[in-house]
Amino acid sequence: MISRLVVIGLGLIGGSFAKGLRESGLCGEVVGVDLNPHSCELAIELGVVDRCEGDIAAACRGADVIMLAVPILAMEKLLALLATFDLGDAVLTDVGSAKGNVVRAARLAFGNCPARFVPGHPIAGSEQSGVEASNAQLFRRHKVILTPLAETDPAALALIDRLWSELGADVEHMQVERHDEVLAATSHLPHLLAFGLVDSLAKRNENLDIFRYAAGGFRDFTRIAGSDPVMWHDIFLANREAVLRTLDTFRSDLDALRDAVDAGDGHQLLGVFTRARVAREHFSKILARRAYVDAMNSNDLIFLANPGGRVSGRIRVPGDKSISHRSIMLGSLAEGTTEVEGFLEGEDALATIQAFRDMGVVIEGPNHGRVTVHGVGLHGLKAAPGPIYLGNSGTSMRLLSGLLAAQSFDSTLTGDPSLSKRPMNRVANPLREMGAVIETAAEGRPPMVIRGGKRLTGLTYTLPMASAQVKSCLLLAGLYAEGETRVTEPAPTRDHTERMLRGFGYPVTTEGSTASVESGHTLTATHIEVPADISSSAFFLVAASIAENSDLLLEHVGINPTRTGVIDILRLMGADITLENQREVGGEPVADLRVRSAKLKGIDIPEELVPLAIDEFPVLFVAAACADGRTVLRGAEELRVKESDRIQVMADGLLALGVKAEPTADGIIIDGAGFGADAFSGGEVHAHGDHRIGMAFSVASLRASAPIRIHDCANVATSFPNFLELCGKVGMRVVKEAQS
Ligand code: S3P
Repeated sequence: MISRLVVIGLGLIGGSFAKGLRESGLCGEVVGVDLNPHSCELAIELGVVDRCEGDIAAACRGADVIMLAVPILAMEKLLALLATFDLGDAVLTDVGSAKGNVVRAARLAFGNCPARFVPGHPIAGSEQSGVEASNAQLFRRHKVILTPLAETDPAALALIDRLWSELGADVEHMQVERHDEVLAATSHLPHLLAFGLVDSLAKRNENLDIFRYAAGGFRDFTRIAGSDPVMWHDIFLANREAVLRTLDTFRSDLDALRDAVDAGDGHQLLGVFTRARVAREHFSKILARRAYVDAMNSNDLIFLANPGGRVSGRIRVPGDKSISHRSIMLGSLAEGTTEVEGFLEGEDALATIQAFRDMGVVIEGPNHGRVTVHGVGLHGLKAAPGPIYLGNSGTSMRLLSGLLAAQSFDSTLTGDPSLSKRPMNRVANPLREMGAVIETAAEGRPPMVIRGGKRLTGLTYTLPMASAQVKSCLLLAGLYAEGETRVTEPAPTRDHTERMLRGFGYPVTTEGSTASVESGHTLTATHIEVPADISSSAFFLVAASIAENSDLLLEHVGINPTRTGVIDILRLMGADITLENQREVGGEPVADLRVRSAKLKGIDIPEELVPLAIDEFPVLFVAAACADGRTVLRGAEELRVKESDRIQVMADGLLALGVKAEPTADGIIIDGAGFGADAFSGGEVHAHGDHRIGMAFSVASLRASAPIRIHDCANVATSFPNFLELCGKVGMRVVKEAQS
């Protein structure tokens, strides 16, 4: 592909680049240049280059690509020298750890930045150095950042991109300034702190004792103080401005920590430490995915659902998602410390925790379902440092928008691609009527920008659709609005917000289908026990109903009457479900659900049950496909705006599995196979990133004649992180497909 590659500077990075490309066979010849004759000899001996050239001008004459891999402070002189040569069409590139100074040096040397110069920086290295450490694999699965300029020739950029990709690197493009800021924060500052700390301690008289007793923490923190001092001295001089900016910010944060220690402010310390711990976990996950997992695999987690099986045993599914969200929200707004048990450790509920941490609330956990929320009171939230990212969670976004519309500060709410498609005007419009100022993207989609400092007034509002999220949003805004906020719903929807507000001592009035609140009261911290989620239980209610010889007990399931539509619908279809050990826990009714196989029959689903089973339809469609006769669903257009268009996506999957299913504007018609018959063929279906679709088709495998492969299941973790484990426990044969 290229005739001659010239690498100037045969250290670890230059040597590894040369060796890797030489082995790739992409280059006619690889020529090395280094001031040190010993390095040149070694480079030839070790097969790093084909040959070395003492005369740099001769090496560069007729070269296709010239890689500058000299120490960063030597770059200026080298570029000035290269500017005196006729470089023809050669593409220049470099590996400097700071980019602003290299680009400045190139401009100085050439008069402007040459179009065929592609600045770059591989984020790789090792504690070894020198050409003898050259390793053709060094860049594999490491990031390489290229920082092209407006004047950079796209063909030159594509060529350098290609060369790094050939070495297995994960290439990204970034602006020069951004690169220098990011590296100053993530690499340069930590090195400065490590060098500085070790030196500071070593200077003290008692240093011997300090180092003798230094344990793991010290060792971990100071490992990088063993790095090459000359190289690092170069880097700090080269990236001076960006390092100073990040250092100054850190200095003021460090001062705040010092003040907290001085003042004995444990709350402040706990806040910083819990946020840091969570942030580290969060970033490690992102890094692990980016650096070591192929894009393909991370995007497409496939569930392989093997056919057949019976369902038996006793399980407790994770905590209720709706109640988990609300426990964090109301706990944060309460006076005092709220303890939560049974919290759902799924990504959606974790997004809510993160949002409140971003707004200054100290939240400990979750640890085995236990969370401690140190409430800040109704007026104690602080502006988040940036946009609040809510992942896949519609509940977080809709409920938070009501709360944030009444704060003194501005907020921006964003989400993943699925959430970014979901309608937000259903909350933004009534909030605007209350006096909120909210901007959205086109057609009311996220991101939502919510302006602070607005006075809200109470509203009397009839919901155009049965939605607990909209109702809850308006009630939360109503906690701050002048006068009364009254929300009337066209059909009953889940009432967890009303119940939990009362649990926190906040008065809520319910008269018929209208719930109302007034501002001026406070929330008092409480203890919350989150029951198991009936929506997650639903997969097993259907599983044990459709699989022969099944008998399953689901423990401690929340059976709030606004959530039990799935039980009513399944019973109408002939399911054998009994409620045992009914009790009330923290204002929510709970029971153990026993379910045994049954001969299901098709039904016309009563429309009034739709809002009471709104999240359970994907798996109810699976039940319908196994039932004897036709099942018809109407009045469920809301399903089209859930995490996916659940009517279309389920219809597509059912058809792919040989089921007679016909989507309609507001529902679906399904002709079931009847008891005993295989209801599904095997095949490929797509969850479209919708957790409940992935789990519904997993259940279908119990009555399939061959394996079902379900694509795009990563989001099952949003509501049911241990779904596969529990499937295995009850006898379902669903596994993650091994990734190649
Ligand atoms: C929820 C309400 C429902 C439901 C969602 C959770 C809640 O949404 O689908 O999973 O916690 O309030 P809608 O209000 O949009 O129907």
